[in-house]
Amino acid sequence: MSMLLTIDDLKQQARRRVPKMFFDYADSGAWTESTYRANEEDFGKIKLRQRVLVDMDNRSLASTMIGEDVSMPVALAPTGSTGMQHADGEMLAAQAAEEFGVPFTLSTMSICSIEDVASVTKKPFWFQLYVMRDKDFVLNLIDRAKAAKCSALVLTLDLQILAQRHKDVRNGLSAPPKLTLPNLIDMAIRPGWCFGMLGTKRRTFRNIVGHAKGVGDLASLSSWTNEQFDPRLSWDDVEWIRQRWGGKLILKGILDKEDAALAAKTGADAIIISNHGGRQLDGAPSSIAVLEQIVDTVGDKIEVHMDGGIRSGQDVLKALCLGAKGTYIGRPFLYGLGAAGKKGVTLALEIIRKELDLTLALCGKRDIKDVGKDMLYR
Ligand code: FNR
Repeated sequence: MSMLLTIDDLKQQARRRVPKMFFDYADSGAWTESTYRANEEDFGKIKLRQRVLVDMDNRSLASTMIGEDVSMPVALAPTGSTGMQHADGEMLAAQAAEEFGVPFTLSTMSICSIEDVASVTKKPFWFQLYVMRDKDFVLNLIDRAKAAKCSALVLTLDLQILAQRHKDVRNGLSAPPKLTLPNLIDMAIRPGWCFGMLGTKRRTFRNIVGHAKGVGDLASLSSWTNEQFDPRLSWDDVEWIRQRWGGKLILKGILDKEDAALAAKTGADAIIISNHGGRQLDGAPSSIAVLEQIVDTVGDKIEVHMDGGIRSGQDVLKALCLGAKGTYIGRPFLYGLGAAGKKGVTLALEIIRKELDLTLALCGKRDIKDVGKDMLYR
């Protein structure tokens, strides 16, 4: 572990430990992956101002996201099938986040259920909701998240329809995965991953199987998922969900300033500028490229968060300088999880914290809450 110094180191380690089918599921974007690449590359175009001979002692990264205290403004993004990167992945990641003092967001499409995660955590976590055609299922999910005392609902808006990732098709990724000879051999040569999976009962989508009508096993889940994302989702749906939930609400998947203006009128507590990590509309701009114009449009009306392409603490700082109140990491924590389970998630957070802290100092600031555009060259 001592030579795992960057998020990319964790990625390479995860590539060795996780079967190709599941590693590729994380490390892929839609179609040509141009938006996936842009998310990362556009951070590199923003340069930081180096400052000297200012007091850099006693620094603080503590902040708040939707009014909750965070040890640094970096949450774990909701990611589906996380329990396939490592056995019990969602439970381990939630524990790592809790110990670190940052929010964990559980996906609707997780392997471990809301109740599984609640059983191993003490503080409230956040729950991400996909709106399915089966509204009874959606209402039931909201009630389960309330019963588990989740402190925020993250409503994802950018997946009314599922885009295509070519790697998943080529690898035969489905529920259940296609157990072709190459896939079986690939799993067999990764004993750490295999023993973990054999040692857990949590290998299916436990928020759904046994809860959604007609979904009793993995085979029925596959057709259910393909049919259930609701292409008619509208702003009216946001309203009934907000009312039913009654707690803190975050709208995820806004990339356009007109949509941001509409989102700001819903009474939600925050928006997440996101293109789903480049997994939906290939050809859309990176999240960091649109952050400033969206903050200029709605920043005084609603808290603005962002995700997509963050691979270091420097990226976090750049997003905060451009007006984000909070950020999220998806793949960085998945790579940590695949590389070394809970310790790997903690390490991903530690890497980002160290980079953020050092960069803050070298830019001549002591408090993360004092950062702004004046710290950047663009
Ligand atoms: C995701 N994302 C996602 N978003 C969501 O709202 N619900 C989900 O179930 C998933 N599932 C998912 C799986 C995987 C493997 C990835 C990589 C991403 C999108 C996620 O929340 C977030 O927007 C991106 O991951 C952010 O980009 P980075 O940090 O991965 O570059």
